[in-house]
Amino acid sequence: MKKQPFLFVANWKMEKSFQESALFIRAHSQELNALVTQHTEIVICPSFVALSLFMQHCKSALFSWGAQDCSTYFAGPYTGQVDALSLKELGCRYTIIGHSERRTAYSETNEQIAHKAMQLAHTGIIPIVCIGETLQEFQSGKTTSVLASQLLPLLETITRKETATELVIAYEPLWAIGSGTVPNASHLKNALSSIKTLLDAYCITYKLIYGGSVNEQTITRICTTELVQGVLIGSASLDFKKLKNIVSLHQSTYNKEQ
Ligand code: PGA
Repeated sequence: MKKQPFLFVANWKMEKSFQESALFIRAHSQELNALVTQHTEIVICPSFVALSLFMQHCKSALFSWGAQDCSTYFAGPYTGQVDALSLKELGCRYTIIGHSERRTAYSETNEQIAHKAMQLAHTGIIPIVCIGETLQEFQSGKTTSVLASQLLPLLETITRKETATELVIAYEPLWAIGSGTVPNASHLKNALSSIKTLLDAYCITYKLIYGGSVNEQTITRICTTELVQGVLIGSASLDFKKLKNIVSLHQSTYNKEQ
């Protein structure tokens, strides 16, 4: 079977302003293009407002872009919300939903996240759904059950509707995000294989990626862990040099394995 490209998702959160995003694109879009290969896919997820910059200036780019959230609704009186159709019109190939910062700060539920996934799937955007356990849940051995409770409402919803859906599932343990700590290989493998078992049972087309303290020091260990098909990068993706090094480190590991 042909190996799928390794997916790098840069989650810029609310770290770059519109102007800073414009500067990044101006300075680095050529180099970003050069990092994309048949084995490497790159997605930049800036703030909503910066998506228009990508649409305007990166039309023929080899990398993709996506949003960090979308509305649960198609359209209507929902002040401040952004609909999936507009994201599609702005050229988004992917969109992150269910990030732990949104689950925590805005009390997003698994059911709402399932509706967001449906809105994206209807417009042809691939949802990147973040799931993961807290430190306390990890320490009390609840990782597998927490991941199942986050995934099942999503899988039930999308398989009930007849929309062909491709998913990216980002396993992001909350205790790894921004902490400098990443799970050991056996925890990561076990968590991903529990996710894989569920997805396979629902016959979903998917990619499994990992997020949480992915940087130049951790990428090699993460990308060589079985079942990891990509990474979601927060703070290290803000600096182009770091992002480039992370991608290059993966590419040299990949080349050695061939
Ligand atoms: P981090 O963030 O890479 O800075 O740990 C990851 C995330 O929050 O998605």
